[in-house]
Amino acid sequence: MDMSENTTSNPRIAAGVRTIGDIVEARLSRRQFLVGSAAASAVAMAGCATTATETVQEDMPVFAFQEITRGMDETHHVPPGYRADILIRWGDPLFADSPAFDPLAQSEAAQLRQFGYNNDYLGFVPLPAGSDGRARGLLCVNHEYVSTPLMLPGVAASYPASMTEALCLTEMAAHGGSVVEISEGTNGWRVVTDSPFNRRITAHTTPMELTGPAASSPRLMTSEDPSGRLVAGTMNNCAGGITPWGTWLMAEENFNGNFLGELPADHPESANHARYGVAGGWYQWGRFVERFDISKEPNEPNRFGWVVEVDPTDPTSTPKKRTALGRFKHEGAESVVAPDGRVVIYMGDDQRFDYVYKFVTARAFDAGSPEANADLLDEGTLYVARFDEDGTLDWLPLVHGEGPLTAENGFLSQADVLIETRRAADLLGATPMDRPEDVEPDPRTGKVWVMLTNNTRREADQVDAANPRADNAFGHIIEVIEPDGDFAALNSRWEILVRCGDPADPSVSAAWNSLTSEHGWFGSPDNCAIDPTGRLWIATDGNEGTGAADGLWAMETTGAGRGTGKAFFRAPIGAEVCGPKFAPDGKTLFLAVQHPGDGDGASFEAPTTRWPDFTDTTPPRPAVLAIRRQDGGVIGGA
Ligand code: FEO
Ligand code: CA
Ligand code: CA
Repeated sequence: MDMSENTTSNPRIAAGVRTIGDIVEARLSRRQFLVGSAAASAVAMAGCATTATETVQEDMPVFAFQEITRGMDETHHVPPGYRADILIRWGDPLFADSPAFDPLAQSEAAQLRQFGYNNDYLGFVPLPAGSDGRARGLLCVNHEYVSTPLMLPGVAASYPASMTEALCLTEMAAHGGSVVEISEGTNGWRVVTDSPFNRRITAHTTPMELTGPAASSPRLMTSEDPSGRLVAGTMNNCAGGITPWGTWLMAEENFNGNFLGELPADHPESANHARYGVAGGWYQWGRFVERFDISKEPNEPNRFGWVVEVDPTDPTSTPKKRTALGRFKHEGAESVVAPDGRVVIYMGDDQRFDYVYKFVTARAFDAGSPEANADLLDEGTLYVARFDEDGTLDWLPLVHGEGPLTAENGFLSQADVLIETRRAADLLGATPMDRPEDVEPDPRTGKVWVMLTNNTRREADQVDAANPRADNAFGHIIEVIEPDGDFAALNSRWEILVRCGDPADPSVSAAWNSLTSEHGWFGSPDNCAIDPTGRLWIATDGNEGTGAADGLWAMETTGAGRGTGKAFFRAPIGAEVCGPKFAPDGKTLFLAVQHPGDGDGASFEAPTTRWPDFTDTTPPRPAVLAIRRQDGGVIGGA
């Protein structure tokens, strides 16, 4: 890269000379972990966009692949000239001693040694090349939830009576995340099952520390944890992020659903729990494990709904729930370094009429000292977005004592503001959005892409400029433009990139570039990714509502093609597509296929597909795909 035009007094640019690979390697070397592999090589793989220079790149290379067709069937589809290999499936071994997958004899013990269910976010942390010269990396995978009737044999017909403690513990073990070392060979990527990096993180067995302003709050204390600082596990980890210093952020989303029980209406936590939808009763865990019953542990739900930071290079490390980033149904947590070196994390709260947030660290990122960033996420300011009709956007600070966030309104401390982030944002007058999912910054352009998946409950009198359709069944995508690439700025601009849905149906009021084909439009944008050349890709969750499978679409954002969608990948029936993640060279795209075989009445015995194994005795299995071009070129063409 040519640094000559840039001032090195800009820490973001200075950071550009050190990739995530450099930083991870430095950390590994200092720890002298994995002697003979990590420490042996001075080669760092290409880093991530978060540390690129701020050159504004207006015209991206156009996508060059043959679009696939709309449709829905039992398997997946990629364009001609591409191959999609199964990298890892639910139940696959993560360790040398992992038991073989036996869907008819599932257990907590087996699941703790196997890849979890419903893979969602995919992070990629480069490792130094191995002694054989192979590219290596750590795939960081969230396991968002389990689809009980599809996962467990024999429970659907008599659910919930059919659930036992052993089955609930198996479900908890299938939640959370996995760290999986993968290496690239001549025939694609493979899982390294004997890697010392491999790790399972679960909803019930992984000790975690609550850190930041809300840690030790009496509202986080339980009978098991009078300190208010220690939690057993994480759950509902949806999307996430990899920080500039190479840690993995797991966003806790629909935690509310995993609790049972009721509280009296006058209990101090009742209104708080109601705002978050606790207790959803989606699982039976509370029948067997007291902390998942709010009538027994009223504070336990307050210990979920955070962003969890994990060091994927140290399987013995204690994950940290970073309370400074707020408590809500976190969809993701994608980060970027602002020009002054502070780190900005963008986050959506995936609920109808909830909000878009960003967190700005108090201190600057230090690319030269990995340890200096260890607790960077414990201090900073959380902001919520107000999208104004004139195309401006104000980021409103959630700071105790400022504006309405005072004792008069029940906020006795910053801990209260963070535990009840949603109510604080309500009082500040944030803009209620159509289910904010992924929010992805691009350091090359200063732009931020906001996926708004849908909101069929918006009435005509609730329409505003940023959420322009009542009964919004198909969602839309907003482009936020941070001024001069300053992601820490508090006044931004925004515009709508596309209104999703069928452009041929006037009643939908969709808006696409007219170059979009009959296959190129979609509904319900959810996760997204920016490839190494700066192009946007969008995965959907709910496109089946348009009569075609969920998938992944390429999206032009610049030039004459701006607003053109192009179909790249189709999921098997019942599945949503998550975690698009490009390898640093842009030549592999990792995709997570979540809940294949789902559908009305679908079960272990009668799924809508048996993807990807297609044997009568194997249920459908969520799995991660590695997609490559058969000629080894860049995904999407260049
Ligand atoms: Fe877990 Fe909002 O998708
Ligand atoms: Ca999602
Ligand atoms: Ca989703």
